[in-house]
Amino acid sequence: MIEESSYMKSKIYDLMNLMINDESGLFEVGNLDGYIDKLIEKACIITIMAQEALHGFLAYYANDYENKVGFISMLIIDPSTKRMGYGRRLVEFALKDLTMKGFKKCRTEVNADNTKAVNICKRLGFTYMGKNDIYMVFEKQL
Ligand SMILES: CC(C)(COP(=O)(O)OP(=O)(O)OC[C@H]1O[C@@H](n2cnc3c(N)ncnc32)[C@H](O)[C@@H]1OP(=O)(O)O)[C@@H](O)C(=O)NCCC(=O)NCCS
Repeated sequence: MIEESSYMKSKIYDLMNLMINDESGLFEVGNLDGYIDKLIEKACIITIMAQEALHGFLAYYANDYENKVGFISMLIIDPSTKRMGYGRRLVEFALKDLTMKGFKKCRTEVNADNTKAVNICKRLGFTYMGKNDIYMVFEKQL
């Protein structure tokens, strides 16, 4: 179990690192190690793997049973498999999963300069709710 999670962690780490260093400046994660540890410990993670390569993953929280609000924390698709519908299908899976678990809403936050991420939110029926200190907040009724 520990071996499995450190294997997954290294794959996620490499993919996120690729994004952080892609010069777009869209991703900044202060403590990548700690961020991934938290995801592995507390979030649901769906991965697309092929021949040991991680093509993409989605991490979302399904733990706020009081408010019944899920939260998509991170979606990354490797550039080698971009625009093949993987991102959309991962989010659709998460939305279905949250619905089956009785959640009423799903929320996410994206950088306003991240056109692809803003587009995917709109494409999947998320509504723009406003801006917090840093991010655009989107929400979808389930
Ligand atoms: C955003 C991201 C997850 C999209 O993944 P993807 O698998 O390539 O996207 P899909 O093929 O499923 O496309 C879904 C929608 O995303 C949007 N989109 C994807 N690529 C886009 C691009 N190059 N330009 C504009 N919109 C784009 C479109 O709305 C698209 O719907 P459409 O094909 O019907 O027009 C991927 O580009 C990525 O990993 N980006 C870096 C990480 C990131 O920004 N994550 C989101 C914030 S956590």
